[in-house]
Amino acid sequence: MKKDYLSVLDLNKEETMALISRAIDLKKASYRGEELKGKTFALIFEKPSLRTRTTFEVAIHHLGGYPIYLAPGDIKLGVREPVKDVARNLDKWVEGIVARVFAHSTLEKLGKFAKIPVINALSDFEHPCQALADFMTIFEIAGTYKVNLSFIGDSNNVSNSLMLLSAMLGTNFTLAHPIGYEPDTKIVETAFELARKTGALIKITTDPLEAAKGADFIYTDVWTSMGQEAEREKRLKDFQGYQVNMELLSYASKDVKVMHCLPAHRGEEITDDVIESEHSVVFHQAENRMHTEKALFLKLFES
Ligand code: CP
Ligand code: NVA
Repeated sequence: MKKDYLSVLDLNKEETMALISRAIDLKKASYRGEELKGKTFALIFEKPSLRTRTTFEVAIHHLGGYPIYLAPGDIKLGVREPVKDVARNLDKWVEGIVARVFAHSTLEKLGKFAKIPVINALSDFEHPCQALADFMTIFEIAGTYKVNLSFIGDSNNVSNSLMLLSAMLGTNFTLAHPIGYEPDTKIVETAFELARKTGALIKITTDPLEAAKGADFIYTDVWTSMGQEAEREKRLKDFQGYQVNMELLSYASKDVKVMHCLPAHRGEEITDDVIESEHSVVFHQAENRMHTEKALFLKLFES
């Protein structure tokens, strides 16, 4: 039975913790192996990418597999032919699909029609592979998942995956967002349900200072995600007061760590001095993308 990874919910708490601990071991060993030897993977990207594309390609390479990058213009997913046909062609040739898409429903269609595993490399709803790397980073730094993580800014794909994974792993998670940018109801309901089991405190507020107070980790992401460019001017106004800057950090724990999935818009959601400061762990997160993706491939494809 093939297994997709479209959401952080596609692996349970034990599987996720085991995956992260395996990623830590792979990182320590600078692991190279042959587990994917003879296997080919299609990397479909409807949007640009530095980290995700590169780390997936390198992870596949380090495990002996072969990646085929399909750029936005190459296959014109759903335009040149229906998504379900793309799925049923690719599964005749390759062993897995990694896809970055605009609509999450495109991933669900790929998953439904392809007989091979499909991995979410970012959709408008979730960025689960980013969240795996982020929690690996938190665990490496803090030695525990029981920390206070605050996300300040837009309720988006990145914050959705972080909220769900926080609830699953027992991390206290606070989201501070401007009015009008509330998180998806289904994400919030699921997070509260998971948190009841793990004891994680999930808080949603419109006050960035409340979120900063006592935070061990402060996370932010762009105010305008890929695909929302037409809303940029309005968003720039609506998100005033939600910037992660040195003043905001003064409300957090003394040795607070600052996280960002990157790319960052310096001067908007985060200041240059914060990214360049000793608080910043953004490149540690980026590094861990490759290790968690390797561990994910081993989980989904190792026979
Ligand atoms: N964080 C992240 O997904 O970066 P890219 O958009 O460069 O892949
Ligand atoms: N929220 C951002 C994340 C980029 C990695 C976006 O979707 O553009």
